Amino acid sequence: MNETSVDAIEDSLTTHEAEFDARNRDIKIYVNGDIVPRDQAKVSVYDSGFMLGDGMWEGMRLYNGHWAFFDDHMDRLFDSCRAIDLDIGMDRSGILDALTRTACANSMVENVHCRLMITRGTKDKPFQHPALSRSGPTIVIIMEHSKPSNALQSKGIRLATVPQVRGLPMSQDAKFNSHSKLNCVIACLQAEQAGADEGLMLDCHGFVNTTNACNFFIVRKGEVWTSTGDYCMNGVTRQKIIDLCKENNIPVYERNFSLVDAYAADEAFLTGTFGAQTPVGEIDGKKIGNHDAAGPMTTRLQTLYRELVKQNTRGSV
Ligand SMILES: Cc1ncc(COP(=O)(O)O)c(C=O)c1O
Repeated sequence: MNETSVDAIEDSLTTHEAEFDARNRDIKIYVNGDIVPRDQAKVSVYDSGFMLGDGMWEGMRLYNGHWAFFDDHMDRLFDSCRAIDLDIGMDRSGILDALTRTACANSMVENVHCRLMITRGTKDKPFQHPALSRSGPTIVIIMEHSKPSNALQSKGIRLATVPQVRGLPMSQDAKFNSHSKLNCVIACLQAEQAGADEGLMLDCHGFVNTTNACNFFIVRKGEVWTSTGDYCMNGVTRQKIIDLCKENNIPVYERNFSLVDAYAADEAFLTGTFGAQTPVGEIDGKKIGNHDAAGPMTTRLQTLYRELVKQNTRGSV
């Protein structure tokens, strides 16, 4: 790789940018009840997730040995799996047990991100019909040492509005955290081709909705705005920010708004389990607000959210 391409990669950031951690080369991964070294963690080429994207996942964070907002994540996971008749084969305490075993095997307690993946399982034949997945679900848990990169906090993420939109819920409901993320992947590619880090996606009516990997908020004249929620992921972090605003008398609105409102915002930020609240530096090449990093409202909400996580993950391990 030449120097220019290395620089190009270093210049571009994603909301899932973490500090390099060599320990991640040697992590242990949960695969259907077994905990195995990373290079031995494998699923079948007949797996429904691999073949069709037929599965659901959750991204969670471990703080002080506890999974933040575990019940909210389980509500979303179990609701989605129920909607697509995917039998997880265990209840939420079984999932917690699997997560705890994986964390213990890796001696992980803090600065950890996990991807819990559940697919319809291995198929008999390489075709679509769910009835061909007869061997029950495939459950995989990947936990990595993960400290979000500071560069995002000081620079802010660059968004580009992309042609790929969030569709109506009767096509593929955006509330499904499905293995198939092609809609989001296309949006991300379009943003990258426009020279940005992440894609800002509109809904099917042209209102500003969400990004390809996170929920999107703007701040205008002391008010916090986010989309109606009709076409975006029902993000756990999104809901926590809305609730925190309400509890702290910060005006918050779930409403339709357009790019005109977003470009002229005083601040903008993204929410997601991985990065908590990520400040937005620019949208379509236009600088947002007149500050370099997170603005005052984003900073205040980051502090309130950190405190909420602390309360939620308090107690002995
Ligand atoms: C498209 C999309 N939006 C938003 C989010 C953020 O959701 P959460 O706050 O629950 O991590 C995710 C996370 O999986 C996502 O995939």
